[in-house]
Amino acid sequence: MRVGFWRNHLLLLAVLVLVAKLGHFHRWGGFQEKSTSKKNMNSTLEFFIENYNNVSNDTYLFRVDKLLQSHMQLTSGVEYLVTVKISRTKCKRNSTKSHSCPIQGKKNLKKSFICNFLMYTVPWMNYYQLWNNSCLEA
Ligand SMILES: *[C@@H]1O[C@H](CO)[C@@H](O)[C@H](O)[C@H]1NC(C)=O
Ligand SMILES: *[C@@H]1O[C@H](CO)[C@@H](O)[C@H](O)[C@H]1NC(C)=O
Ligand SMILES: *[C@@H]1O[C@H](CO)[C@@H](O)[C@H](O)[C@H]1NC(C)=O
Ligand SMILES: *[C@@H]1O[C@H](CO)[C@@H](O)[C@H](O)[C@H]1NC(C)=O
Ligand SMILES: *[C@@H]1O[C@H](CO)[C@@H](O)[C@H](O)[C@H]1NC(C)=O
Repeated sequence: MRVGFWRNHLLLLAVLVLVAKLGHFHRWGGFQEKSTSKKNMNSTLEFFIENYNNVSNDTYLFRVDKLLQSHMQLTSGVEYLVTVKISRTKCKRNSTKSHSCPIQGKKNLKKSFICNFLMYTVPWMNYYQLWNNSCLEA
């Protein structure tokens, strides 16, 4: 009984150490201020904007203009609750996708949205799923 108790505790400790190493966690429960790697955040944003452009009817592609806020929570994967500003670029949706499309400067073509989205990711498996998303014109 006692041995089992300690074995379980050691196991729990090992899991905690592993999780802490993966995400630098200090607290449990709820969303935390961003603390995961820049690379994961970047892939998450990439997936979001690709999805946005996929379903958008706009003539032009949008791109992430500014990351305003991001929170994350560890579940079976990593959940991100993010606020971003996205802006219309000069590239048409049609054109071959370029990562370096400049943002529109012309007054009548300028357009930006502030988007809130919740995404479930399993970064180490390259898995991304947009759970919900709402954008308001900025
Ligand atoms: C992700 O990082 C690459 C360079 O590392 C950058 O070119 C790209 O714009 C980033 N994507 C987003 C959505 O910020
Ligand atoms: C966007 O559309 C392309 C082509 O239909 C698809 O391969 C890709 O997975 C989509 N991306 C997202 C993020 O939905
Ligand atoms: C795209 O157009 C369709 C039909 O006009 C509309 O129902 C849909 O909401 C539009 N999608 C976006 C992202 O604006
Ligand atoms: C893509 O652009 C070409 C011209 O560059 C145009 O002829 C074609 O209709 C466009 N296709 C779509 C789906 O918008
Ligand atoms: C996602 O949906 C849930 C429930 O519908 C809502 O409480 C939450 O605010 C939404 N999150 C975003 C980022 O829109």
